[in-house]
Amino acid sequence: MVQKPFNFEGKSFKVSMFSYNVFLHVLTGIIVAIPLVYAFSFVKENQSNHVYLHILLLVPGFQLLMGQSFLGLAPYNSWSTELNTVEKRRAHWILALLSSILVIVGSFYIMVLKSSNFYSMHGKFGLVALVFTMVNLFTGVAALYTTAFKKIWIPPFLSKITHLVFGLAAFVTSGVSLCYSYDKSTFKNWIGADAAFACIILTGIFTGLLCINPVYTTYKRVITALK
Ligand code: HEM
Repeated sequence: MVQKPFNFEGKSFKVSMFSYNVFLHVLTGIIVAIPLVYAFSFVKENQSNHVYLHILLLVPGFQLLMGQSFLGLAPYNSWSTELNTVEKRRAHWILALLSSILVIVGSFYIMVLKSSNFYSMHGKFGLVALVFTMVNLFTGVAALYTTAFKKIWIPPFLSKITHLVFGLAAFVTSGVSLCYSYDKSTFKNWIGADAAFACIILTGIFTGLLCINPVYTTYKRVITALK
């Protein structure tokens, strides 16, 4: 019996991809809402705590804006399906720039306020995520202006691949840092140990699923470059 090849443009494939996209948006809402509600509980309790502002800048910066900047380029993404390639790229760099601003301000804010730095795993992974984010701003400019950078001996495939790799590294390490923040006793006392563990699992699933498209794009670009 001759097997039919899988139809990537077929109805069931498209329904699966759109459902996966809806699921990712629901997850984004949960992952961003929980730390924000936690942060707002500080204000309610009238505590002048700098961790509050730190959370308000970093979680929307990484998990919301950087996440959406990845999704905007992915096929079958709700809000970007009607955009052409140029418009998708524009949406991507605007979201990525906003995300980087929030991340850089949020990270330096807490680092400056602390007397000793990077003792916790949360802080260590947060620092790595910050460094990747800052490097990624430069690789992003190189990926956007490939023709100009070609003149100074940076081939387009290299600027694009490095941008994908640094972007992925920043997003994954920020997810790891977020998981360590859920392991903090103050957070566990607020939400409960089981719920904190559920937050870690959800963040892992969210980060993994969101990285599928950029990982696949990196793979395709590496194969094309090798050919
Ligand atoms: C993706 C999100 C986040 C990133 C990338 C991040 C990153 C960082 C960084 C770079 C520091 C400074 C570390 C140091 O100077 O030693 C820090 C400190 C801190 N963060 Fe976050 N953070 C995030 C989310 C959160 C959340 C959601 C909470 C609370 C649930 C939190 C609580 C804290 C606390 C209490 C400190 C000070 C103590 C410590 O260093 O562990 N952070 N974070």
